[in-house]
Amino acid sequence: MPDMITVSDDLTFALTNRFFSYVFRVSPEGILEHLHYGGPLCEPLDVAVHHIRTQRSVASTFQGGHYFSLGDTPQEFPSFGTSDYRFPALHGRNSDGNTIFSLRHKSHEIVTRKPRLKRLPSARGGSCETLIITLEDPLHKLEVELLYTIYAEQGVLVRAAKFSNCGEKEIQLQHAFSSALDLPQDDYEILHLHGTWAREFNEERIDMPKGRFVVDSARGTSSAAHNPFLALLQKGTTEDFGRVYATTLIYSGNFALSVERGEFEDVRLLAGINPFNFHWRLKPGKTFCTPEALHVFTDGGLRAMSHIWHDFVREKITPKRFKDTPRPTYLNTWEAAYFDVDEDKVLALADKATDIGVDMLVLDDGWFEGRRDDTSSLGDWVADAARFPSGIPSLARRVKEKGLKFGIWFEPEMVNPKSALFEAHPEWILHVPGRTPSLGRNQLTLDLSRNDVVEYLFSQIDAILSCGDIDYVKWDMNRHMTEVGSADLPRNRQREVSHRYILGLYKLLKRLTKKYPNVLFENCASGGNRFDLGMLSFMPQGWVSDMCDPVGRLEIINGASYLYPLDTTAAYIGPSPNHQNGRVSSVQTRFLAGVFCAARGISLNEADIAEHYDELIAWMDFAKKSGADMVGGRFDRLIRNGNEVCWQYTTQDKRTVYVAYFHILSAPNLPFRRARLVGLEPHADYMLVEDGARYKGDALMQNGLPMPYVSTDQVRDTVRYMEKGDFSSYLFTFKRG
Ligand code: GLA
Repeated sequence: MPDMITVSDDLTFALTNRFFSYVFRVSPEGILEHLHYGGPLCEPLDVAVHHIRTQRSVASTFQGGHYFSLGDTPQEFPSFGTSDYRFPALHGRNSDGNTIFSLRHKSHEIVTRKPRLKRLPSARGGSCETLIITLEDPLHKLEVELLYTIYAEQGVLVRAAKFSNCGEKEIQLQHAFSSALDLPQDDYEILHLHGTWAREFNEERIDMPKGRFVVDSARGTSSAAHNPFLALLQKGTTEDFGRVYATTLIYSGNFALSVERGEFEDVRLLAGINPFNFHWRLKPGKTFCTPEALHVFTDGGLRAMSHIWHDFVREKITPKRFKDTPRPTYLNTWEAAYFDVDEDKVLALADKATDIGVDMLVLDDGWFEGRRDDTSSLGDWVADAARFPSGIPSLARRVKEKGLKFGIWFEPEMVNPKSALFEAHPEWILHVPGRTPSLGRNQLTLDLSRNDVVEYLFSQIDAILSCGDIDYVKWDMNRHMTEVGSADLPRNRQREVSHRYILGLYKLLKRLTKKYPNVLFENCASGGNRFDLGMLSFMPQGWVSDMCDPVGRLEIINGASYLYPLDTTAAYIGPSPNHQNGRVSSVQTRFLAGVFCAARGISLNEADIAEHYDELIAWMDFAKKSGADMVGGRFDRLIRNGNEVCWQYTTQDKRTVYVAYFHILSAPNLPFRRARLVGLEPHADYMLVEDGARYKGDALMQNGLPMPYVSTDQVRDTVRYMEKGDFSSYLFTFKRG
């Protein structure tokens, strides 16, 4: 492995691989000054210092200097109050009671590994190097370690910060961002993903405003309102053109991604824990670690950005055990029966599942003591005695005797006021003295910052998983947090609760997934309300949304795919009319909207299954046969224009290429659309499986593939037609010769 990190005698640091160069230096004042983040440079240590030291009217000059203001200096880890007025990466209260910190370079070290963070998930190592820069505030003895990891074969730069109190008095942290990126002036747009329940991952693109633009969460989960993702795009960036700086975090709680365009058009991007409502007491001798922030640069547009993220998430984030492992097809009981489940019904659905050839039966909500609707029982994780008299282990065994796998739903972090657990431990919920806790879906949030709660949850889930017949767990979490306080912490640590909650959650997940490495865990939070790389570090896949209408789902998958490879997602054929928006659509379109998700299944009742029996058998057979294809391949967005969507999926071995096309609203006399495929071998033959027609790779990429035509009249057999009417879909399968 060549040295990816180089350092000059006068302390310029360069990180370079084939994807990017990242360069900064120690300024004469000891400040870390950012110099370059962009395409790879052959002599990265020789980059010019663009920042001009000059007199500016009204500028405050830094601590005795004449021409040097931090206010317009690009920095690696800025603080506030010493001539920089922009939002800082570090802010807090020192032992003198003021908020002025001034960090200077103290030392640095290069290691050929990736350090892990205490109590937080972190990206795996491999062929990588890490630069550790130690900064210090000599007055208050605060040390900040900045960690930068670069990989030989990945386009992601990983950053984190560790704050250590080396003094004798307490320091209080308020802004403890993971990374700061000060970029030079450019004509940027911002791309981010926003939403709400059943409408997650909507894409918004805006011109970068002057001032500050923030996507964040104060809800306790990373949330559907803003996924922890933000990209700065060169204006006009498309799928295959443009400079892109994209960022995410390995974190599942309150985060912030803040972009600030300063008075001289400079741009500061901060990524980390949301400073709003955050406060951490750092006692002498203690260290606080931030979550990891991940950065991507590419000048190849959004497609290249997504390829970099997808490769990284698979290689360095999601559990190795399930990498390239085909996921079982399944029948989930939720939209088939909701809370109306019992042993007989589950066994009858299991028979249906066997008949239509799916691999697994998933028992969703409703199986535990007293749970007949969403008003009670969360917290009491024992099978309902009346409806599941023989218990879960016996049911699991009987389902498995039918040749199926068995999966089960939990919502471990929650408790209903109407439950035995709440009666026994009312102090175990997040709450504050003197206030009635607000409910969400009739439930309260357990205080996972407490060790006893984490221990209890481990033992409850362990009691069920230890039967050995559970193959899959859907881990749900269905409310935002309110009255966030803990009976277990002193008054002056109450603002640490949100972060401590996430640390408790990670501890629980780490223990369970370590004890049950072969159980497939699926992350869910009312769909995509906590879909992030923190959760994906423990669970290989997630339920990306409760929206199962195919039209709604197309948008969601499109948005999610900017960052997440689709082998982290699950999808099922739900009922029609759809239960979320009432839309009527075909089984085919419902299936194809999720065709490139790794985990595919159905959630239909017996009558729906009977009505579409043959079609379901055919699609589940396709899902099973293509299961291995849908892990590790390349997903590409080809068309998205409001009424049409076209996606390409190329398998890992590049031998099979799928193209899915969706036409939303029908109309007469439409234009003929074609999709230009990507990433094929120009000289290879690609055979279209349905009719044996052969196309050269270059023709499909340059000349394109004619999309099927939606018409009220299907008149010519030389034209490929789709189903008539609205919400049509089509799937091409090519085999490389
Ligand atoms: C959430 C999930 C659904 C289902 C229900 C059960 O809404 O997103 O898929 O599991 O909970 O209550």
